[in-house]
Amino acid sequence: MDELLQIRNLNVGFLVKKKPINIINQLNLDIYKDEILAVIGETGCGKSVTGSAILHLLPENAIVSGSIMYKGQETLHMKDSEFRELRGNEIMCVPQSPSTSLDPLMRVGKQVSECTLGKKHNRTDAKAVVKSKVTDIFGKLKLPRGASIYDDFPCELSGGMCQRVLISMGILTHPDLLVIDEPTKAIDWALRKDVLEILSELRQEMNCAMMLITHDIPLANRLADRVAVMYAGEIVEIGKTADVLEHPIHPYTQGLIASTPSKGFKVMKGFMPAFSDLPDGCRFKDRCPYACESCGQGTTELKEAENNHMVRCNRQIGQTEEGSVKYVGSYQLMQELRVGVLAK
Ligand SMILES: Nc1ncnc2c1ncn2[C@@H]1O[C@H](COP(=O)(O)OP(=O)(O)OP(=O)(O)O)[C@@H](O)[C@H]1O
Ligand SMILES: [Mg+2]
Repeated sequence: MDELLQIRNLNVGFLVKKKPINIINQLNLDIYKDEILAVIGETGCGKSVTGSAILHLLPENAIVSGSIMYKGQETLHMKDSEFRELRGNEIMCVPQSPSTSLDPLMRVGKQVSECTLGKKHNRTDAKAVVKSKVTDIFGKLKLPRGASIYDDFPCELSGGMCQRVLISMGILTHPDLLVIDEPTKAIDWALRKDVLEILSELRQEMNCAMMLITHDIPLANRLADRVAVMYAGEIVEIGKTADVLEHPIHPYTQGLIASTPSKGFKVMKGFMPAFSDLPDGCRFKDRCPYACESCGQGTTELKEAENNHMVRCNRQIGQTEEGSVKYVGSYQLMQELRVGVLAK
């Protein structure tokens, strides 16, 4: 497969009270052309920080090192002015929160139209051409009242409509890579189904790779080709969607799947450690039902468990005390997630 984006040894930290706190630790990740890679994990594990690093949208207190290659070109140390030729053209994003990402004082149509300003060959497009492109996209995304919302302000739209306005910004310029952050957060169940349909349709129509950052495991299961699971700034498991979600190996992935609503919220014990006070060895060990002495020592590398299915666990992966592989009923659980929840 062709790599579109190659992240190598990415570290992202923040200067807090003059002290650096490392968040993303030696992250390696590829995104292939036209694939959807879902990044899942508990709140605060570093999903959005990773997305922001790709998009050059980290705040000023960020300290970054490593490499992010896009189409073979190093982007991490590009000047912002240089990177802006990519962001807005080939790389686009749909940010996490519609309520804070849209300018409340600007008409939504104008906000979406502004996204074409970065597109080199569109800079000269007449206003009318841009407006018709925007209204076309509004129609495609089945925005109620279609073209007529062009002149509305965000406060005149519902949360779900604002979410679709943000998605239209992301796709207007036909990017090659779309980083889409929590498209179903803060919207209700019916609208979630709409967003899911929109993203499924877009995936068929647009030849575009997506990094889909989400808490929504059924959404990842439905849309993604591969899934990466993050815990405390590290990827702990990555592989094909069916491998990771139907046969999770890392105890954290197993716990995350078991804590979904359809499984009756079997919440994992404990909390993610603070980034300022990370334990030695495996970062998950204090919450892990299988933790043993060796988990507290050294570094835990991401290793291949089976065909391109990588797991960061020092133990003989997924083995119970008796030595048999334990999947905590995940196959059955995933059937429930796919068939039961999504069909409703
Ligand atoms: N500018 C900043 N300064 C200091 N710490 C920050 C900054 N931005 C993010 N962080 C910290 O980085 C960690 C990862 O944050 P991030 O937003 O990536 O989480 P997330 O996985 O996207 O969570 P969520 O699912 O809630 O969106 C958090 O502990 C957060 O507090
Ligand atoms: Mg986030």
